[in-house]
Amino acid sequence: MIVVTCLAPVNIAVIKYWGKRDEQLILPINDSISATLSTDQMNAKTTVMISPNFEKDLLFFFREESCMSPRVQVCLKEIRKRASENLKGKKNNQGIDLWKAHICSENNFPTAAGLASSSAGYACLVTALAKAYNVEGDCSSIARLGSGSACRSVFGGFVRWHKGNQGDGSDSIATQIVPASHWPSIRILILVVNDARKKVGSTSGMQRSVETSQLLQHRASHVVPQRTEQILKAIKNHDFETFAEITMKDSNQLHSVCLDTYPPAVYMNDVSHTIVEFVHSYNKIKGTTKLAYTFDAGPNACLFLQEEDVAEVVATIKQVFPPTNENNYIRGIKVPEKILDKDLVLPSGPQEVGRLRYIIHTKIGEGPSEINDPEAHLLDQTGLPK
Ligand code: DP6
Repeated sequence: MIVVTCLAPVNIAVIKYWGKRDEQLILPINDSISATLSTDQMNAKTTVMISPNFEKDLLFFFREESCMSPRVQVCLKEIRKRASENLKGKKNNQGIDLWKAHICSENNFPTAAGLASSSAGYACLVTALAKAYNVEGDCSSIARLGSGSACRSVFGGFVRWHKGNQGDGSDSIATQIVPASHWPSIRILILVVNDARKKVGSTSGMQRSVETSQLLQHRASHVVPQRTEQILKAIKNHDFETFAEITMKDSNQLHSVCLDTYPPAVYMNDVSHTIVEFVHSYNKIKGTTKLAYTFDAGPNACLFLQEEDVAEVVATIKQVFPPTNENNYIRGIKVPEKILDKDLVLPSGPQEVGRLRYIIHTKIGEGPSEINDPEAHLLDQTGLPK
């Protein structure tokens, strides 16, 4: 019996992935770039136990048995294929590639908040499976089969997912641009917006965009290649202003593509648009680009800024978006108190109380890791949730 427990991070794209050229292999129509967030604040945790005595593969999500989705099955199949290639001709071949797996997974942040839980979840699943079945080499192309964006959570720091050109997807992999230590002053604020609408999922939303949006075709062939080069340079040179401007423009273009989709896929709501307005007003008052926003397939905002500006930005956000309850409004890395300058009057505020649920303060972090503490396993000796 082998048991492995791993933690994996969430990643936030600054050059967005939107649109597949192959639905089965999850091959994108353009490259994308993301920042991996620290697992100290947000993470997925997965325990994989494999044993010759298990009768079938089982999946538990938050300790409840859950059905093995086709995407989880594809990841398992690919891991076993690589494990069996590995074992060919080896002495002591116990045939572990044939052992069944019990998998137990959870996130430490609400899935319902729409916070990129699938990227952390699949990256964690694949890392833990690879360790259990002793599979070495690139795991990003296996995580990609679970969810496209998950392939970027396999590395820390800033990461690029190369769209690749091969029909079999063998060159559609993620690589690290720079490690987390390259730009330690970057901070991230996740603004969790109050919203109860039912949304179009990203998988079906992007499928509909590929079928109907001409703007998406233009974006993939004429905009993203240039932006990718520019933002890579900005990241390497610690050029925050350029990084921030490209990040905002790319988010805006993603949501323009979503509106150009027919019928349109609407992800941002009124609060999201107020956040955009707030960021631009703040940058204008400061006379420089201090803050950047980016939005995925939901209304929550992810803001990028530098450590030295966190206290003022958070105090300003609190003024513009007053909480229903001060307690637990700001989560994650501690934010120093700051009394705002009287001159800092933002046109967008103050909004009605409670428009934001809470804010998570985090930073850029490392890729997945194994937890070598038996206490941390989510499964007991018999392979059932603890
Ligand atoms: C808007 O990775 O969730 O977050 O590959 O169909 O599982 P599938 O889609 P998913 O799409 C994420 C899209 C995005 C942008 C991004 O993360 O690049």
